[in-house]
Amino acid sequence: MIEFKDVWKRFKGTDAVRGITCTIEDQEIFGLLGPNGAGKSTLIMTMSTVYRATSGEILVDGHSVNTEPGKVKELIGISFQDPKYDRILTAREILQWHAKVTGVEKGVREKRIDDVLTKFGLTFEARKRTWMLSGGTKKKIENAKIFVQRPKVAVFDEPTAYLDVPSRLLVWDMIDELRDEGSTVLLATNMMDEADRMSDRVGIVSKGEMVQVGTPDALKGTLKGRDIIEMTLEKPIPELPAEMKKIEDIQDAHFEGDTLVLLLSNGRELLPHVINIATAKGAKVQSVNLKQPSLEDVFLHYTGMKLA
Ligand SMILES: Nc1ncnc2c1ncn2[C@@H]1O[C@H](COP(=O)(O)OP(=O)(O)O)[C@@H](O)[C@H]1O
Ligand SMILES: [Mg+2]
Repeated sequence: MIEFKDVWKRFKGTDAVRGITCTIEDQEIFGLLGPNGAGKSTLIMTMSTVYRATSGEILVDGHSVNTEPGKVKELIGISFQDPKYDRILTAREILQWHAKVTGVEKGVREKRIDDVLTKFGLTFEARKRTWMLSGGTKKKIENAKIFVQRPKVAVFDEPTAYLDVPSRLLVWDMIDELRDEGSTVLLATNMMDEADRMSDRVGIVSKGEMVQVGTPDALKGTLKGRDIIEMTLEKPIPELPAEMKKIEDIQDAHFEGDTLVLLLSNGRELLPHVINIATAKGAKVQSVNLKQPSLEDVFLHYTGMKLA
């Protein structure tokens, strides 16, 4: 179990993590979903003892990151968002070194490394020094470290960034397998489909805060019965959102650029009415789009931000 208790992390003038409290259960895959700069990596690095929390506490299997960082390090394996490698080492040497320092038994090290490299199709590439590797291959090697280590708590920070589709599917399967064997997984991502496909529960992170936590279905369910109308106008009309919100079935209205976004029930029935109101206020409607809620809409609703 991982327990975050009112965790804050401040860098000079920036509160990157602002009072996050949350519990992750054993063998859960927990997705941290948020746009660039939300604070996901900072939270992960703080849990992994790379950073020291400005205040608050994190317990990993009951061990405090503040007072028992050594114990916590033994339990955790982290695949970093931007791995920095010694350029002289080969990819295989990186994995050998990682296996050694994380205490993988000598007798099984080489076999595990071979197995993981074979799965990734990197047996040959792994003989190259890391400066020769592409971004995607480096990312695979960074993930491979954790699949070789098989830690109690596995942390993946944007594990499929730069990966092609087959490689993403493979990494997802390997993370599932790791969990099935007993690991607890914390996965940071800015990709909706990844959060949706992988997570037992998702924590939506925005501006350093965890604004919603729940299963992907439960999160989508919070917008159940709601439709979205996007109406692009020639130019925004500032009083229009307030005007729209007077209608009972319209839960939210705001502009994103020239587009008026409405969250509502019965979108199909209300559409003509909504267009009439806009037109009466002098709007020149250029296009209208009616759609069902998705996890992305849930995200936008709770954060007001677009994913990068
Ligand atoms: N080492 C650091 N020093 C100063 N500011 C940082 C540092 N790391 C992250 N930040 C800032 O903290 C905020 C959160 O960043 P980060 O945790 O990397 O977000 P995410 O991983 O969600 O993209 C950003 O505003 C970022 O610029
Ligand atoms: Mg990050």
